[in-house]
Amino acid sequence: MRPIIIAAFGAALLASAPLVHADPFPGANIAKGKEYHEKLCVECHTRRFGGEEGSGAYLRNPRRANNPDGLKQMLSACTAMLNLDLFPEDEHDIAGYLNRRFYRFGLN
Ligand code: HEC
Repeated sequence: MRPIIIAAFGAALLASAPLVHADPFPGANIAKGKEYHEKLCVECHTRRFGGEEGSGAYLRNPRRANNPDGLKQMLSACTAMLNLDLFPEDEHDIAGYLNRRFYRFGLN
């Protein structure tokens, strides 16, 4: 009985691992996201929050974005406020960049 339970538990762990550690913004063009970020986001965030590339916004404690969905929501709140009208792919690239560089959700 016991080995079966252990095996089942192991299988469940393995099955859930890719979900926990998967990149939440797969295929994002990081270089393009960085470029957009530099052009559209850094100045205001630096003025308000400080930090390299305005990173004080993303690294403050408590911050607003605590998971990938939160990051997308905050990102969209800023782009909507700015009337930027970016394509969803562009927002995906920026989110991928911010996640890779600062938030690191789902990454090691
Ligand atoms: C005119 C100023 C301004 C610009 C430009 C701006 N933001 Fe923001 N951003 C803010 C402010 C203010 C907050 C904090 C909002 C809050 O705490 O409710 C914020 C917060 C954020 C957060 C959440 C940080 C956290 O707490 O985790 C993200 C993500 C974000 N901005 C993304 C962007 C992106 C991406 C761009 C460029 C496309 C951008 N912002 C441009 C003012 C700006």
